Amino acid sequence: MVKAVVLGAAGGIGQPLSLLLKLNEVITELALYDIVNSPGVAADLSHINTPAKVTGYLPPNDGLKNALTGAHLIVIPAGVPRKPGMTRDDLFKINAGIVRDLATGIAQHAPNAYVLVISNPVNSTVPIVVEVLKKHGVFDPKKVFGVTTLDVVRASTFTSSISGSAPQGVRVPVVGGHSGVTIIPLLSQISPRHEFTHEQIEALTKRIQFGGDEVVKAKDGAGSATLSMAQAGARFSSSILNATVKGEAGIVEPSYVHLDADKEGGSQLRKTPSGVAKINSLGDINEYEKKLLEAAIPELRTNINKGVSFIADGS
Ligand code: NAI
Repeated sequence: MVKAVVLGAAGGIGQPLSLLLKLNEVITELALYDIVNSPGVAADLSHINTPAKVTGYLPPNDGLKNALTGAHLIVIPAGVPRKPGMTRDDLFKINAGIVRDLATGIAQHAPNAYVLVISNPVNSTVPIVVEVLKKHGVFDPKKVFGVTTLDVVRASTFTSSISGSAPQGVRVPVVGGHSGVTIIPLLSQISPRHEFTHEQIEALTKRIQFGGDEVVKAKDGAGSATLSMAQAGARFSSSILNATVKGEAGIVEPSYVHLDADKEGGSQLRKTPSGVAKINSLGDINEYEKKLLEAAIPELRTNINKGVSFIADGS
């Protein structure tokens, strides 16, 4: 039995993500939780002829508890998205409290589940989840992930649009966090190998770092990426399920994860190409990428501290 849960399932990301998870035949139960409309989304998806039994929950009558109990994998796209002119950090005020409360429910009702955080600002919401789970004594660093797969997906698409190679076949490691300069594409490690001029590398790096703004601008007040994010979230979920349920080896997915400060020279959280079993090193990075890393660290530190203090003293 493999139960997957979506928290924020009725939203712009939540609905297409739930659809894609319903199509994943590894999942036998799909629980959809939201503060509105989740029973409707569940009823709709339940008519699709794939194995997952779909259930919808609202907050009353222990909805969160019932959605979470028995979960193997929990994906969190709950919270408000950006409008033009906003940074992801501007969402902190509203989304921090939402994520804290959902993480508390996870600590109480599904402490062993894999937790995939989509809600922004990811650089701060992941530390919030980590701190809540630590407070309850149930934190496992190999089970909490900031979903940065959309940066990886965009990197493949943008790279291949210049090189002409097939986008599905291009793997670009993207490490760091999930906002602006904290997003670090390692273009020297693209597989298969690509040769770009320095100008092309600079332009590509910038486009990958600020790709989300293209969607926010085009949607003109109606939100941020939802459909591409749903695909990216489903891809990351599927990688976790393939590794943990099917036992497939050698799956590598970049993600934003917690690393012990003492082991990593003070950088508490960093996204690295990581499996559930092992966190890989950054590999050989060139001078340009070292500069990107240097530019990212102070902002990441600030974002991380913001999440940690929100749980420590509620500020
Ligand atoms: P949306 O507003 O369409 O959907 C959010 C859903 O969360 C709504 O259905 C809402 O009712 C629900 N919600 C609000 N409070 C809740 C609570 N306490 N418990 C359960 N559900 C709750 O927003 P959208 O476009 O789906 O975006 C969701 C989040 O994902 C935003 O924070 C956005 O910034 C983030 N995002 C992250 C990306 C990433 O790469 N990690 C990419 C794109 C968006």
